[in-house]
Amino acid sequence: MSQDSRIKSNAFREKVMPAEAAAALITPGSTVGMSGFTGSGYPKAVPQALAKTMEAANAAGEKFRLRVLTGASTGPELDGALAKADGIEFRLPYNSDPIAREKINSGKMEYFDVHLSQVAPMTWQGFFGKLDTAVVEIVGVTEDGELIPSSSVGNNKTWLDCADQIILEVNSWQNMALHGMHDIYYGTALPPNRKPIPLVRPDDRIGQTTFRVDPSKVVAVVETAIPDRNLPFSPPDETSQRIAGHLIEFFEHEVKRGRLPANLLPLQSGVGNIANAVLAGLNKSKFEDMTSFTEVIQDGMLDMLNSGKLRMASATSFSLSPEAAESLNANMAAYRNKMILRPQEISNHPELVRRLGCIAMNGLIEADIYGAVNSTHVMGSRIQNGIGGSGDFARNAYISVFMTPSTAKGGKISAIVPLASHVDHINQDVQVIVTEQGLADLRGLSPKQRAETIIENCSHPDYKPLLKDYYRRAREHSYGQQSPCLPAEALSWHQRYIDTGSMKA
Ligand code: COA
Repeated sequence: MSQDSRIKSNAFREKVMPAEAAAALITPGSTVGMSGFTGSGYPKAVPQALAKTMEAANAAGEKFRLRVLTGASTGPELDGALAKADGIEFRLPYNSDPIAREKINSGKMEYFDVHLSQVAPMTWQGFFGKLDTAVVEIVGVTEDGELIPSSSVGNNKTWLDCADQIILEVNSWQNMALHGMHDIYYGTALPPNRKPIPLVRPDDRIGQTTFRVDPSKVVAVVETAIPDRNLPFSPPDETSQRIAGHLIEFFEHEVKRGRLPANLLPLQSGVGNIANAVLAGLNKSKFEDMTSFTEVIQDGMLDMLNSGKLRMASATSFSLSPEAAESLNANMAAYRNKMILRPQEISNHPELVRRLGCIAMNGLIEADIYGAVNSTHVMGSRIQNGIGGSGDFARNAYISVFMTPSTAKGGKISAIVPLASHVDHINQDVQVIVTEQGLADLRGLSPKQRAETIIENCSHPDYKPLLKDYYRRAREHSYGQQSPCLPAEALSWHQRYIDTGSMKA
């Protein structure tokens, strides 16, 4: 399909210009809402043109920095390029780019790590100030001037509604068969005007397939043909297969006990290799007719759709390896009735997650013996990515599962620690912890019972005696006996690792 045929409205065609000219409409110091959620659907040409302008400003001893808001992480053409040009002053809500991570951790970039479901409502409430510009990738413009969303929806509806001016990137790499896959719900509001969201099953459609836009706000349309870029997944290794095995056995047990239906409940699967491996395990399991109500559709979920194990997937974005993205893109039409992409305030909506009864499965950096989970900060201070949607799902899920290898850094550090160095998920939001060593079902257990179960079932044999020793001494010397601890000593576990000098402190 030619580029021209993707822009069916004359009013939009008249605004086509090169990326450099569009980037020149963005002023230093302004707030820009960009599309993008993981490596999907982010603008690719305008950010790279902006990065060049920023580098030129740096060379001239000037500063050109922006406040950048997105759906979640993006690709190297956006976060990587702008961070490298030192062009991001403030960033939200999630980042996984290594250059941006360095800038954040060295104090050169302010970062607001926030629940992904809350970004749109916070924008409507004005917490991020005036939104000057929206830069949004789409796959086309309809005759009546509506926008066909791309491979992620994220916060685009909000950026288009709230921004003073809009720049569109029409990406002809994306398949036009995406048209019809999205469900853009316009019924959200702020209190006291909120109404129930009429979604009762993960496959319900409650909105429209396109974004509305005020054409008078569109100042530029840029044509691109650039692939989405995500990182490849590692093939499931023995550790992740064992984690998947424990979890599937647990689900089978829950079905036998009558606490889960035979096709389970809508699955939410977090980011990363372990989550992907669990999906691969589910694909080989005896469960049939599964559904998902999740944030991202990754390779494992695509495989489950292909095999028919998964009936449908609801999300806000794809998060696929380059091979899976190419393959999906080539066969998009075949998936149009099996996938729904929604705004992230709906895909991650706490009330929907609670009502649908999602099974949340997320990764972690460390869990303590009471089950508090750190998803974000290595050694309590250095951010890895961010909380993403894990909090949206974990607190509200029917079953909230966290999974991890029992050790990190080649066995040099235990993922199960006496006291988490940073807490994203309090112990009440963590119901099941799984490592390759085993699974701890924490539902209905008191803190001391949780500690004994987690140490016994989940810790690595190299660390189990240390954790038992710590717990025994905590029982003897703790100020209170509800959640016994020796805080200063507990945190020294991390210090010990930094002292080895084998990791950036
Ligand atoms: N101590 C020190 N470092 C640790 C660690 C620990 N206990 N656990 C992990 N790490 C390091 C790893 O070594 C790795 O570092 P490297 O990149 O320098 O090699 C890094 O953290 C990532 O770990 P990895 O094992 O590759 O994890 P992953 O891909 O399974 O991701 C999280 C784990 C927690 C980082 C990831 O799940 C995440 O960002 N979660 C928060 C957001 C979320 O859950 N989103 C889903 C909601 S829909």
